[in-house]
Amino acid sequence: MGGAGLERDGAVGIITIDNPPVNAMSPGLPGAILARLAEAQADDAVEAVVLRGAGKGALAGADIRSFGTPWPEGEPTLRDVIAAIELSAKPVIATLAGYWLGGGLELALSCHYRVASRKTQVGQPEVALGFPPGAGGTQRLPRLAGVEAALAMIVDGTPVDAPEAAEKGILDRVIDGDLLEGAVAFAGERIAAGPPHALARERTPELRDPDIFAATRERLERRARGQRAPLACLECVELALEVPFDEGIRRERAIFEACMASAESRALRHVFFAERAVRKVPGIGKETSVRPIESAAIVGAGTMGRGIATCFANAGISVRLMDSDSQALEHAMAGIRSEYEGRVKRGRIAAADAEDRIGLIEPIETLERVAGADLVIEAVFEEMPLKEEVFRALDAVCDEGAIIASNTSYLDVNHLADIVPRRRGNVLGMHFFSPAQVMRLLEVVRTDSATLEALASVLALAKRLGKLAVVAGVCHGFIGNRMLEGYTREVRFLLEEGASPVEIDAALTAFGMAMGPCSVADLAGLDVSWRKRKADAHLRDPAKRYSAVADRLCELGRFGQKTGAGYYRYEPGSRAPVPDPEVDALIAEVAAESGIERRAIAADEIVERCLYPLVNEGARILDEGIALRASDIDIVWINGYGFPRWRGGVMHWADEVGLDAVHATIARLDESGDHWEPAPLLSRLASEGKGFADVDRAA
Ligand code: 3HC
Ligand code: NAI
Repeated sequence: MGGAGLERDGAVGIITIDNPPVNAMSPGLPGAILARLAEAQADDAVEAVVLRGAGKGALAGADIRSFGTPWPEGEPTLRDVIAAIELSAKPVIATLAGYWLGGGLELALSCHYRVASRKTQVGQPEVALGFPPGAGGTQRLPRLAGVEAALAMIVDGTPVDAPEAAEKGILDRVIDGDLLEGAVAFAGERIAAGPPHALARERTPELRDPDIFAATRERLERRARGQRAPLACLECVELALEVPFDEGIRRERAIFEACMASAESRALRHVFFAERAVRKVPGIGKETSVRPIESAAIVGAGTMGRGIATCFANAGISVRLMDSDSQALEHAMAGIRSEYEGRVKRGRIAAADAEDRIGLIEPIETLERVAGADLVIEAVFEEMPLKEEVFRALDAVCDEGAIIASNTSYLDVNHLADIVPRRRGNVLGMHFFSPAQVMRLLEVVRTDSATLEALASVLALAKRLGKLAVVAGVCHGFIGNRMLEGYTREVRFLLEEGASPVEIDAALTAFGMAMGPCSVADLAGLDVSWRKRKADAHLRDPAKRYSAVADRLCELGRFGQKTGAGYYRYEPGSRAPVPDPEVDALIAEVAAESGIERRAIAADEIVERCLYPLVNEGARILDEGIALRASDIDIVWINGYGFPRWRGGVMHWADEVGLDAVHATIARLDESGDHWEPAPLLSRLASEGKGFADVDRAA
């Protein structure tokens, strides 16, 4: 719960809010602050109060962990503290350092003055948790910063730094040098100047652009499809102009509470903690030694190799890029250069920085030249014999302690480790997503033999690369791609049964997927999975249903956008999918050959048929220990496959639906179709009335 202390420096009372690590407003803390405020009021020697956070000085707002459980009866709240500050006859000066976010900023906004160290960030990030600010932020911020600036900060949730906040009128002073000294000096000036000490609530919000609400609403309706919180934020800021301050505060609170109780907010809060849990790997702690990675090498300069090289360059790590095909290597280097030049043109990066980064990537033509690299990532074609050959060659040239990683999408990384027995402990998978320089997700595939040190080193590197790393065990396709197979299989079955590509894509984008599966396939190229299906044909159970829809499209040379046709047609130079009667006819033909009677299929059924296989496979992945926790699976699907964050990821969403309901549908589908056998963990949890979150809690 933390506490709050009061000291005195001359006429200035200093209240320090102390609740490690980020001084969140847990139950008990507001009461402690109120008590110190009362003491400061009662002390005649105190003429002004400085309010600050302990430790690094952050105030991260309400305690997100306490949401969802009732606030203890009779316990003061943050809003009581805010009310007390606004009644204070003595000026209160919020003294900001680190992050003052959400309720932290709202507390500061209620103070008479705000000063901050230069590196401070302030913001109202509540929208990212599925609700608008609930302690007056939407009413006070527009009164200090103006409506346009406040609206942007509240609707987008992006923090601003102290100089910008000062410019917007949120801060009264940016302090260089010792913050507390500067704050006490500022307090002295205010004491000397005397009243009035104006409060935000007494001001009138300034609106310069009367169209801002309509324009923002239109933007949100496009961008925040399906979500409530961004529009709720907008409505609250609108109230600041429309109703008196106290009514605005009351109505903001009502909207906040309704949003807080929503599935959207539960999902987003789940993701907040999932993103923090994913960094925790049993056995790895501060004491685990980590090898520094000063130089890297990448073998295979295709789509992935080139993107991965860019990731290293962006992180300032020198990297050698090797390809056995000199044309491919040249093409990769030209591609890297042109991408950086594009970023320079768009003003994203300075020309000199782009040159520096390109300079960090050295093209090399022989494998011997990877010698000396601390880490080598293999990114050659997805063929085991070829990867074996590369691993053997690497064994001969790499330094003793070098980590060797494979970017394979599906293959057995344990087997690759066995190819280099004396280096087994240093072999892992690093499964980047395409485009590697853009996608935040990285599956770190932990082989049975990888040492904790090698794993910790790769995880530390991932952080430097700005990646969100998820540890996965070895299996066919790891977490994400293994689950993807059921999803794409059902898409093909649904096409045969009567749904069109447009209907399938519409149902899933309406659900919130970033793109529909048919559009994704056209973008990624249908030929990649076609080649894989042909290679794996001998592994297929002939007794089970198989759809030839995608194969038949490929046989017509319809590989997706790159050939101008796939599930859709594309006009030259356009990425806009155009429904194609030729595809409808082909699907009808394939269905007829398989004796499938076609019918109209509702959007709800499309969603269940496509997403329940993800849940079922996710349950197996969790049960087998391939994922450390259900929430890690959520992180993979949100960050790698466009699953809506505001639905919390596949596993959280299934918990919200109720595993008994999910299980009942899967069991029903299992009676009449292939591939639907319920996962044992799903059956067990459903029968016990539990969810995947219970598995995580118990772990
Ligand atoms: N409540 C509870 N716990 C919090 C928290 C919060 N508001 N903010 C951070 N934490 C916890 C994290 O879960 C983490 O715990 P762990 O060590 O057990 O995993 C620990 O504090 C450290 O957090 P980070 O790992 O995220 O540390 P960073 O230094 O990377 O980031 C931060 C610090 C920028 C403050 C980041 O934690 C953050 O963005 N926090 C959330 C801020 C936020 O959204 N505030 C609004 C809350 S809602 C609100 O205030 C409602 C109001 O309008 C009424
Ligand atoms: P690609 O076909 O674009 O590039 C592979 C490159 O490897 C080619 O340039 C080729 O010349 C080179 N190469 C082949 N044999 C070589 C050898 N012996 N030595 C050096 N270079 C050699 O392939 P892509 O798409 O980049 O895939 C590479 C790996 O990454 C595969 O394992 C793939 O499964 C995986 N992957 C691919 C993703 C994608 O979306 N394309 C996503 C994630 C992983």
